[in-house]
Amino acid sequence: MSNEKKQSVTVKPWEHAKASEGSAADPLAARFVASLDYDTRLYKQDIAGSIAHAEMLHAQNLLTDDDLAAIKQGLAEIESEIDAKGDAWSGWNIELEDVHMCVEAALVAKIGDPGRKLHTGRSRNDQVALDLKMWIASAYHEIDKKHTALIESFVSLAEKDGEIVMPSYTHLQRAQPIVVGGELMAWVAAIDRAQQRLAALVHSYPENPLGSGAIAGSSLPLDRTHTAAALNVGSPSTSSIDGTASRDAGIDFVYALSMTAMTLSRWAEQWIIYASTEFSFIKLDDLYTTGSSMMPQKQNPDMLELVRGKVAGVYGQLVALLTMTKGITVGYNRDLQEDKRFIFAAYDAVCDCLDMAANIVKTTRFKDETIAAKLNEGFLDATSLAEYLVNRGVPFRTSHQIVGTLVRKCQAENLTELSNLSIEDMTAACSEFNVTFDQDVYDWLTPQNVVKRYQSSGNSGLPGFHEQLAHWKNVLANDAE
Ligand code: ARG
Repeated sequence: MSNEKKQSVTVKPWEHAKASEGSAADPLAARFVASLDYDTRLYKQDIAGSIAHAEMLHAQNLLTDDDLAAIKQGLAEIESEIDAKGDAWSGWNIELEDVHMCVEAALVAKIGDPGRKLHTGRSRNDQVALDLKMWIASAYHEIDKKHTALIESFVSLAEKDGEIVMPSYTHLQRAQPIVVGGELMAWVAAIDRAQQRLAALVHSYPENPLGSGAIAGSSLPLDRTHTAAALNVGSPSTSSIDGTASRDAGIDFVYALSMTAMTLSRWAEQWIIYASTEFSFIKLDDLYTTGSSMMPQKQNPDMLELVRGKVAGVYGQLVALLTMTKGITVGYNRDLQEDKRFIFAAYDAVCDCLDMAANIVKTTRFKDETIAAKLNEGFLDATSLAEYLVNRGVPFRTSHQIVGTLVRKCQAENLTELSNLSIEDMTAACSEFNVTFDQDVYDWLTPQNVVKRYQSSGNSGLPGFHEQLAHWKNVLANDAE
């Protein structure tokens, strides 16, 4: 919103204790103290909170029937005006500092005295705390859906490419064979956990600050359970002081967003590596790569890089919130106004990253042939061979040693795979251990065989992948109900 639109000569209607013109007279001070650049996005919550407050005042005989009707009518008109005009709404006036005072001033301009009664028993301190809580509740709803959409994208990719056999990596070194779907289900598990963490944290303090006033409450007979029930944001906060001065709910929200962003960043890094020529495990859709201004051949995974990079800002917002609140004395302090700037920025970034991730996942394909071409490298089946020996009664530590010996033998003889060894080779190499191998050892070798053999629950081979896929499809179907 441009500042010119908000310039006017109005003096703040809540600064009557001042002998002079007050803080609106210095344009820098007016801009410095204002939050209108970002808090206009709370207007729907602000209006809903005001209507609930007015209904409560009416029920407590602090407003007449006519007052209430005028307030509700006026606020409904203001809401439709802002819906239609957005940033261009004529009521936005930077000298009024914030969304709360702009809406109230517009109401007074429309309906006169009934509008002047709306703020009875209320302060911007409990008002903004409520608005933010309500905004987080609705933002949570949106971002929850975006987590589900991303999980759906992973599931749909898993249904296409899930059975492709691939190497897994620890320390980014080849580990054991898995299937693509096994790895995709790992991302699903992490996104699901992030989604559940958000739900748990958003719902963990069901407290409604409205009715706390500026800090100490009110001598008027406010019925805080009335507004709490109408707004469905929890029961009245137990302390008027804590209710107005705590921003824990915002911090919890951004912490949970940070965990989603961190998960997305890890995934993005993984796929940036997979999209490299060296790996060539995936083909990103042309929609989600960019060219180079100089190098004609380039197809860079910039969208993935930005998903990886945007987490920096989200962590930054979390640290900003924690730092902003660390020295706040027990009542409201204006520092707290900055909270929304950080919370909105973190939310917007994570929304964009989730949407982008869902689109990328939906359109990416795993490259079966290039993955298969190098699957014989790295002795992926070594652990399986050790487990074969365990089945034959060899203690695991001994079988680990035997297979290590066999790997060394392969390397010495330039054999790339353990399955290149004959039964005799294997037996001879392990003579000191008194171990014999049978023909069935070959069923335990090669990545293709190994991925079928995993039995432990949650495994990332074929059986585990199918089990997990069925589980997540079930979860999605239940969510949709
Ligand atoms: N815009 C302010 C905020 O976001 C509203 C509260 C102002 N309260 C005050 N006592 N000055 O925090």
